[in-house]
Amino acid sequence: MNTNKAANPPDWHRRLIENKGGLMAVLSVAAIAVGSLVELVPMFTLEFEPREIEHVTPYTPLEVAGRDIYIREGCYLCHSQWVRPFRSETLRYGEWSRASEYAYDQPFQLGSRRIGPDLHRVGGKYNDAWHYEHMKDPRSTSPGSIMPPYKWLYDASWSGDDIDASVAGLITLGQPFPQEQAGNPQAHAFKQAKAISEGLKEFDIEVSADKEIVALIAYLQRLGQDSKAMAEARAAAEGGE
Ligand code: HEC
Repeated sequence: MNTNKAANPPDWHRRLIENKGGLMAVLSVAAIAVGSLVELVPMFTLEFEPREIEHVTPYTPLEVAGRDIYIREGCYLCHSQWVRPFRSETLRYGEWSRASEYAYDQPFQLGSRRIGPDLHRVGGKYNDAWHYEHMKDPRSTSPGSIMPPYKWLYDASWSGDDIDASVAGLITLGQPFPQEQAGNPQAHAFKQAKAISEGLKEFDIEVSADKEIVALIAYLQRLGQDSKAMAEARAAAEGGE
């Protein structure tokens, strides 16, 4: 006589489940389908108001050049661009990151480690002169910083042809650059760079507009600007009719 009850499944289990593989398969598929529908249907019926993507614009040609430098230098190895919706993060960095903000980040720069702080809201946090000094010698603005200096960005010049090529590539991917940028990307980049180098003169900083550091500053100052426009639109939608 077998006294080991645990080794023998109860009779109902055998009758209902083990002997009815076909029925079991059908029921499993039905259970998974119901679960999937519960998850999926609300996603398709949700209305996102205001349509946040309307407030997200492609990077300007100079910002594209700065972003290419950011990728080349591997800044993403120490910096994330993703403020998570936690109080500890929003208090430190600001508004949490929305999916639509990444629409023109091709490839995206989420990053996976934070050896330095998140940068998704760094635009406008400091002035251009701060970034100029910080990138040259991080410890001059942030005592004890372990960020490496990037001195070569002050000698190397960005290339107008590279900007044209990068913007052409992004247009191929479907990015809607305004005509005044798409028509002549490097001319637009030079205009924006000139304004930054003029502004730096007020801080007694002489740098010619075509230096890589200028493009990188343009990019860093852009980060999080779309989020501000989105927040204003959200506030207007909540307060208005
Ligand atoms: C080895 C890791 C490391 C790398 C690589 C690195 N950083 Fe940093 N970064 C840090 C650390 C740590 C801090 C915080 C201390 C400071 O301000 O320097 C920081 C701070 C910053 C800040 C100020 C952020 C704030 O909110 O105060 C900016 C902007 C920045 N880094 C940009 C860059 C850029 C651009 C690159 C690539 C060219 C880069 N970093 C590469 C570690 C790194």
